[in-house]
Amino acid sequence: MEKGRTRVDLFEYQARDLFAKHGVPVLAGEVIDTPEAAREATERLGGKSVVKAQVKVGGRGKAGGVKLAATPDEAVARATDILGMDIKGHTVHKVMIAETAPEIAEEYYVSYLLDRTNRTFLAMASVAGGMDIEEVAATTPEKLAKVPVDANKGVDIEKARAIVAQAKFPAEVAEQVAEVLVTLWKTFIAEDALLVEVNPLAKVADGRVIALDGKVSLDANAEFRQPEHEALEDKAAANPLEAAAKAKGLNYVKLDGQVGIIGNGAGLVMSTLDVVAYAGENHGGVKPANFLDIGGGASAEVMANGLEIILGDPDVKSVFVNVFGGITACDEVAKGIVQALELLKAKGENVSKPLVVRLDGNNAELGRKILSDANHPLVQRVDTMDGAADKAAELAAK
Ligand SMILES: Nc1ncnc2c1ncn2[C@@H]1O[C@H](COP(=O)(O)OP(=O)(O)OP(=O)(O)O)[C@@H](O)[C@H]1O
Ligand SMILES: [Mg+2]
Repeated sequence: MEKGRTRVDLFEYQARDLFAKHGVPVLAGEVIDTPEAAREATERLGGKSVVKAQVKVGGRGKAGGVKLAATPDEAVARATDILGMDIKGHTVHKVMIAETAPEIAEEYYVSYLLDRTNRTFLAMASVAGGMDIEEVAATTPEKLAKVPVDANKGVDIEKARAIVAQAKFPAEVAEQVAEVLVTLWKTFIAEDALLVEVNPLAKVADGRVIALDGKVSLDANAEFRQPEHEALEDKAAANPLEAAAKAKGLNYVKLDGQVGIIGNGAGLVMSTLDVVAYAGENHGGVKPANFLDIGGGASAEVMANGLEIILGDPDVKSVFVNVFGGITACDEVAKGIVQALELLKAKGENVSKPLVVRLDGNNAELGRKILSDANHPLVQRVDTMDGAADKAAELAAK
């Protein structure tokens, strides 16, 4: 379920705050969302600043989203230019007003990430930072040191020095970079991150080594032990359907396809996704549009909530309700479906997408009878899982 929210990507200013919390050297900075606020923020920094677009996409500098301002007035002007700007399809709603670094002498790159393929953590470091690191990896791979990190040992100063040596950092910055690597590792572990990246890690005129730009992705699966992370989520940008489902307490994940799926029990829903994807191959490649598990006690209200979310997805062309009656008997589910459709109609929702319903298990006969008696024009009953999946895929392909 790649589309599921498994990682939470942060804005640069949020990454900066986490770095500061764990001792990675950063410059002062604050985030604002109106041009006028750039004035005071710049005054607080001593009269000059760097105005930086906050969007979750790389190459902001090249796109004109990072500008120097020599005066508070200039900062307002640059913030006016940058706020509202479109950078690779991302609208800029916030800018960071950052302290101006002393003259930059060199730009390096350091990061840690979870290397799933090799089942380890990986440190990456390069003296050729500042630019696109993918390009460095592709054109001059010898300039990018990749060092596996044992999860149980982590990165202490000895390990950090080894990484620095492998990346061939100049002697005069070696110890400072090693210290940055130790604090960056603390950030990575303490925050349950999947990625922490500093690019550029700059050597500036006064000899200091400072993180001038940061990227952090947090592991959403660690949220239960990271209560502070919820505040870092960009609610507005997250999938609105997922947000609505979460508000209703539903276990919903948006996917790419066209067949809306509702089932009871995570296992049944997972196999429903497979069956629909398989059936879809015979119908122009239609796919499941979502994962939605309404769980055990699927009341009419839960069914209505689920249907409302799914029918509200413009990508959905048909809906497959796949229920195996257990603790909740099929007649209850059938009543739930009928009531849900009435409820939605009463709420003024335009229910126009076909529903294919498969009921099996506890009280299936009674459930099927309830659906037949209701004789709803949009509801079709198919009594096998494969048959129902095929029907739903066929309807979605129309
Ligand atoms: N606070 C600062 N003071 C001085 N110069 C800065 C500052 N922040 C960034 N710069 C300069 O601007 C360049 C681009 O900044 P930054 O790395 O933040 O954006 P970017 O790399 O273009 O964006 P992205 O990382 O999203 O691709 C840096 O390489 C650095 O030379
Ligand atoms: Mg950068």
